[in-house]
Amino acid sequence: MSDWLNVASTDELKPGEVKVVDVDGTDVALFNIADEYFAVEDVCTHDGAEIASGCIHGDVIECPRHGARFSIRTGEVTAPPAYEPLHLFALEVRAEQIFVRDDRWD
Ligand code: FES
Repeated sequence: MSDWLNVASTDELKPGEVKVVDVDGTDVALFNIADEYFAVEDVCTHDGAEIASGCIHGDVIECPRHGARFSIRTGEVTAPPAYEPLHLFALEVRAEQIFVRDDRWD
């Protein structure tokens, strides 16, 4: 099990913004959706595009390459051509600091 990493402070990420951070060598897209924070692996499951550079529509991210859409809250696909969900990393906010843990191999 990997450790929790302090990846950002909450004042670095305003509502509707995304920031890419490094979590143990993996690019992770941090999203602020109406002051809730989510950490998503920055790789589209369709063909590997960097999902953080896509357009945000509310709590949905649209892949910049072929337009697949995913829920930022759950990672689930909301529109093809992707069929596999994005991975959401474990995230906690403590004293206005954002912590993320790589839980892919727990
Ligand atoms: S790489 Fe994201 S939809 Fe194709």
